[in-house]
Amino acid sequence: MRALVTGGCGFIGSNLVKRLVSEGWTVDVVDNLSGGTEESISELKIRRMPMASLLPQFYYNLDKIGQKRDPGEVLFIPSDFSDLGVLAAIRDKRYDIVFHQAAVPRVSYSVENPAETTFENITKTVSLFEACHDSVKRVVWASSSSVYGGAETLPTPEDHQKDLLKILHYAIIQLHIHQKDNESADERQLVLDELASNLPKDLLDVGEYGEGC
Ligand SMILES: NC(=O)c1ccc[n+]([C@@H]2O[C@H](COP(=O)([O-])OP(=O)(O)OC[C@H]3O[C@@H](n4cnc5c(N)ncnc54)[C@H](O)[C@@H]3O)[C@@H](O)[C@H]2O)c1
Repeated sequence: MRALVTGGCGFIGSNLVKRLVSEGWTVDVVDNLSGGTEESISELKIRRMPMASLLPQFYYNLDKIGQKRDPGEVLFIPSDFSDLGVLAAIRDKRYDIVFHQAAVPRVSYSVENPAETTFENITKTVSLFEACHDSVKRVVWASSSSVYGGAETLPTPEDHQKDLLKILHYAIIQLHIHQKDNESADERQLVLDELASNLPKDLLDVGEYGEGC
């Protein structure tokens, strides 16, 4: 299987990349290193693509000489996941699955910088999902337990009532993306309705651990 992992140098992304490689997947990582570090995947065999705009040509050239990617080698693209080169490679059907783990996930930062974090976490994600539509088999996206507004039931079931009054900007961003699965009409008014149509409910992962969330 061929995967693109956005945010593959971050906490969740880097662990995911290592696991996928160990299971024989062919993995491309796109990360702009705004939060993560290349060292987080340095134990792997890395091939660095100088810029994302070269990605479609790279795959075109491989096709031309009849060569396949080496599954033991991670292709690292130090770029924004919404770069046109990355989106073109997705549209060219170079991946079976896109694991979208790139984000500016810090709660307090999202409250202090709502415009920037909305752009980073929602607008760019819409571009990514648009490229994925009809191009990949599946998109796996990380949600957050914060969408429940500080639920006291742990583990929190996916259909748990969301306390909108307690939800912070960070959580609303996450809600925007997977709200399509919710049933309350009141909540639905808050969201961008079409965003999550590609996301199977059972693949929304919430409540990991580590810095930031
Ligand atoms: N860690 C947790 O416990 C937890 C819990 C719930 C949800 N999540 C969600 O999981 C996702 C990943 O969280 P994390 O803890 O791994 O965060 P992280 O900050 O460790 O990793 C995010 C990565 O995304 C990269 N990135 C940010 N913007 C980018 C962009 N525009 N283009 C390319 N790369 C970009 C950063 O450089 C970083 O490496 C987030 O959506 C977060 O909300 C995490």
